[in-house]
Amino acid sequence: MRSSFFDIRATASDPAAIEAQARYLEEGLLEVKHGKIVSLRPWLEAEAALPGCAIIDRRGMLIVPGFIDCHIHYPQTEMVGAFGEQLLSWLENYTFPTESHYRSPQHAAAMSEFFLQQLLRNGTTSALVFGTVHPESVEALFQAAERHAMRLIAGKVMMDRHAPDDLLETPEESYRQTRALIRRWHGRGRLGYALTPRFAPTSSPALLERVSQLHQEFPDTWIHTHLAENPQEVAWVKRLFPAQRGYLDVYHHYRLTGARSVFAHCLHLEEEEWHCLQQTDSAIAFCPTSNLFLGSGLFNLQRSWQQQVRLGIGTDIGAGTTFNMLQTLGEAYKVGQLQNYKLHACEAFYHATLGGARALSLDHLIGNFMPGKEADFVMLQPTATPLQALRWGNSRDIWEKLFVLMTLGDDRTIAETWVNGQRAWRRDGTEENL
Ligand code: GUN
Ligand code: ZN
Repeated sequence: MRSSFFDIRATASDPAAIEAQARYLEEGLLEVKHGKIVSLRPWLEAEAALPGCAIIDRRGMLIVPGFIDCHIHYPQTEMVGAFGEQLLSWLENYTFPTESHYRSPQHAAAMSEFFLQQLLRNGTTSALVFGTVHPESVEALFQAAERHAMRLIAGKVMMDRHAPDDLLETPEESYRQTRALIRRWHGRGRLGYALTPRFAPTSSPALLERVSQLHQEFPDTWIHTHLAENPQEVAWVKRLFPAQRGYLDVYHHYRLTGARSVFAHCLHLEEEEWHCLQQTDSAIAFCPTSNLFLGSGLFNLQRSWQQQVRLGIGTDIGAGTTFNMLQTLGEAYKVGQLQNYKLHACEAFYHATLGGARALSLDHLIGNFMPGKEADFVMLQPTATPLQALRWGNSRDIWEKLFVLMTLGDDRTIAETWVNGQRAWRRDGTEENL
């Protein structure tokens, strides 16, 4: 594949170190074999060594590693843009009624395919995904993801209180159904299972015990939940769990913190909660469009670096407002601006690729173009609109070009998405999309 390329070669512990690991090849050649990266080299050096090989010519594009969405709810695809509420009333009025449709395997199957097409048309090749409480919901999603050979982690929601009756289960049912799904799907192909207690308020102590038990039985499953998104939510958790020191301590008490745990939001953390995230090597999913849409608050990126907490970006559809990672990075920049934090394009692309992979403990498999990594990548068309063409053309260097992409880019910028070495999406040929 001949084109321009950008990636970050290694994980880093501060933004300056990321820049030192950045690699931009204006003319490069990416060699892919059996779904894996063989090499990325400057064109002039590679050309001589490859006589007679078939070369796909994509000059004019910028190819970056596939985007990684570290927090998203596939059943909420059909309710993006629900007016007027903040978290708790938004859940009650919009989310729970929508999620009740996923009892139907037919509905779950149709929406799973629609959801994956949305990811692909936006250049997202991996995601950590919430289902609903119904096992049918994730069964359908895993089947669809397997067809597309996507690296996807998902789980059925576990919840046993404070939601409509038709979305509740007993801790024993939750345990049994989750266990069956883990045995069927965890580690199958590129798929992984995340234990997914919705959040502390919909979890009884007995349910959290069951989650903990499953994680001990299957220690390489992920744990995926919400944390400190909204002030009323935080106050409610304190009333529900008076014996615990705070919100995160509820999860910590049940041994749900750790290197495979991903906590969405983390907007209203106390000092000791930042320390607990660091001490336990837990990760955060920062979801800027959701945080702004629900009026939840501003994530403190600077603090996450100070505390050395692993971090990825989530769209959090359907509280988030776009599947598109470029637009999400543009909103992350604005969240930074409101706090005097300058989110440099290099840092932003890191969070959306290798940093996200690291937050999901997948950085040995995906996130950049190092040899042996799985060949998931996106071709960006930097001149997709007249305005993007104008700004791309007058940008001085790669940093300004990347920043313009995250400020003006959207799904029109995504020309092709490749998964596991195969083209999975092409913008001007929808009939090709499987
Ligand atoms: N907290 C508990 N459930 C949800 C959800 O579905 N979306 C968001 N944004 N926060 C939650
Ligand atoms: Zn969420």
